[in-house]
Amino acid sequence: MCHGNSATIFSFDTMLRIGYYQFRPLFGQIKKNLGKVISALKDIEADLIVLPELPFTGYYFADREETRILAEDPDDSSTVHSLKALCKERNLYLVTGFAERKRDKIFNSALLIGPEGLVHTYRKLHLFNEEKNWFDAGDTPLTLQAVRGARIGTMICFDWIFPEVARALAVQGAHIICHPSNLVLNYCQQTMLSRCLENSVFAITANRFGADKRPHGELKFTGKSQIVAPKGVLLHRAAAQREALYTTEIDPQRAEDKNITALNQMMDDRRPEFYGDLV
Ligand code: ACM
Repeated sequence: MCHGNSATIFSFDTMLRIGYYQFRPLFGQIKKNLGKVISALKDIEADLIVLPELPFTGYYFADREETRILAEDPDDSSTVHSLKALCKERNLYLVTGFAERKRDKIFNSALLIGPEGLVHTYRKLHLFNEEKNWFDAGDTPLTLQAVRGARIGTMICFDWIFPEVARALAVQGAHIICHPSNLVLNYCQQTMLSRCLENSVFAITANRFGADKRPHGELKFTGKSQIVAPKGVLLHRAAAQREALYTTEIDPQRAEDKNITALNQMMDDRRPEFYGDLV
């Protein structure tokens, strides 16, 4: 496990300590996975930590019924209750994946939890492969939330392949994109450098590692959680198959510099009136 600050960037403005926890959830073992997270973060000194997608249930569900049984309503969840206590105790904001049950629906969600409690729920818009059998498609708009002066937006795993998601958050003024993930393909980590370059934002991709080995098959996850700075600069990337708790200090205001040359600004220079069906 590493806990470093090698990529510290100095500024006189408000700095934020951000990071992620990459680990290997055990399928279906919500209490054990929660215990692992709580124990890993028990001494954490940070403003914002991102956890992987579905870190408590695991990922490779057999069917919708199994997903329904393991999912929880955040308003009546012992998992969320413990995470709220952790955030209060450590004065911390957490963005975590969460299998969310709401009435007859089940969403692959991400929760923003802070010292004040549950702040925001984002429901994954773009379901990957068999997730379409397990979850309902997300129905929450892409919005920003304030964390200690920074504007953060959230997307979940496969949302990365739709550049519109990061763009929609950046156009609203996001400083940091939080990106809980369970990546099984190898393209995302590299592509996130482009997402950060073309939008001039920070991104925290928190991925899991290991495998979900189930009677119906096995899925392997790619690790390599990372933090990327505006201009597509990779600040840190974890190993593929190792636990990692990492934090670094950033100046979120660096994401406000959208200049590319003296005469180009990546938001102002857009020509949406020519983008046709895209908008
Ligand atoms: C994914 O969206 N979990 C690949």
